[in-house]
Amino acid sequence: MTVLMKVVVKAIPAPATQPLRHLILRPNQPVDECIYPGDEDSGTAHFGAFLEGKLIGVASIYNQSLEGEGSPDVWRIRGMVTLEEMRGRGCGGRLLEACFDHAQSHNGDEIWCNARTTVMGFYERFGFRKQGEEFDLPGIGPHFVMVAKLDGDLNLPAGSGAVREYTLRATH
Ligand SMILES: CC(C)(COP(=O)(O)OP(=O)(O)OC[C@H]1O[C@@H](n2cnc3c(N)ncnc32)[C@H](O)[C@@H]1OP(=O)(O)O)[C@@H](O)C(=O)NCCC(=O)NCCS
Repeated sequence: MTVLMKVVVKAIPAPATQPLRHLILRPNQPVDECIYPGDEDSGTAHFGAFLEGKLIGVASIYNQSLEGEGSPDVWRIRGMVTLEEMRGRGCGGRLLEACFDHAQSHNGDEIWCNARTTVMGFYERFGFRKQGEEFDLPGIGPHFVMVAKLDGDLNLPAGSGAVREYTLRATH
């Protein structure tokens, strides 16, 4: 029998992302390293996935070009995290889609991220393709820039900024 769980994805304030960023992405760095440039910018959005009120995943999207500048069309994903025991159930994908939807609703055309080589398959699953050469982020590891085009038809329930409820499988 497939056991299901209800997961809510909604916008959250920037500071709410920091505990999961710290726990999973930067456990060996000071928690201040989990405050990213642009976290509080007006165009930035942060999303959380909740299971029975507990935060189980986060993702953020910034209006930033590869060169780090504000750009109307180009958006950056950062801080993409699902709790280890919750992976493989669809939470990461739903968070990524909330980011796509935010960018698209702001006329975004392209999304990029610095993808850890360990999770490139996750990004490829959502249309990202690697660009350029592998590079190392000190203390974190090997990465590729990955880029996805927004094609205009995400077909997501409700609109950007909505609270979305999903029924996902509870085991994988
Ligand atoms: C990357 C991460 C957020 C994915 O979260 P998740 O909740 O497991 O993702 P989902 O369950 O929504 O997976 C969506 C799809 O991607 C696939 N996928 C997930 N992680 C994958 C990986 N590491 N490699 C290949 N495919 C992967 C899943 O199999 C699933 O495919 P399906 O829809 O065909 O079944 C999670 O693994 C994580 O937090 N990793 C550690 C932190 C990290 O490295 N973050 C990225 C920094 S760049």
